Amino acid sequence: MVERTLAIIKPDAVKKRVIGKIIQRYEDAGLIPIAMKMMRMSKAVAEGFYAVHQERPFFHDLTTSMSSGPSVVLVLEGEHAIRANRELMGATDPQKAEPGTIRAAHGASIEANAVHGSDSPETADFEIRYFFPEIESTAR
Ligand code: CMP
Repeated sequence: MVERTLAIIKPDAVKKRVIGKIIQRYEDAGLIPIAMKMMRMSKAVAEGFYAVHQERPFFHDLTTSMSSGPSVVLVLEGEHAIRANRELMGATDPQKAEPGTIRAAHGASIEANAVHGSDSPETADFEIRYFFPEIESTAR
């Protein structure tokens, strides 16, 4: 089943100059960028994006780091894109991420974990619409 997922190359990875390496991994895994933009999120935009986490103790630090510099926000399309991207990223905490995953290679800490990826069809739908209201969230 071809589907779409939202990915973010976070400010820590942009600062490390690994945008190209991360996009190469998506493409090599058959996750094709169909929309992409580079932006510096305001704190309010980061708070809206991560609203599901607003009661969590890390919410302030998370939204501060997401608004600390530019990110690359992408829609990826491919077979089982949501699950495929989560496997490619590895565990949220880079110390626990499988060797060979993006977070194992480029993440430094749970906060500076290089990338974000939607975790379910419902969040993919919300997240794609949040940054790309002009495109459809599901593949045709
Ligand atoms: P992400 O996939 O972008 O989704 C929420 C983010 O919150 C997560 O990656 C981490 O960068 C960050 N975060 C910080 N602390 C935690 C925590 N204890 N558990 C989960 N996520 C955390």
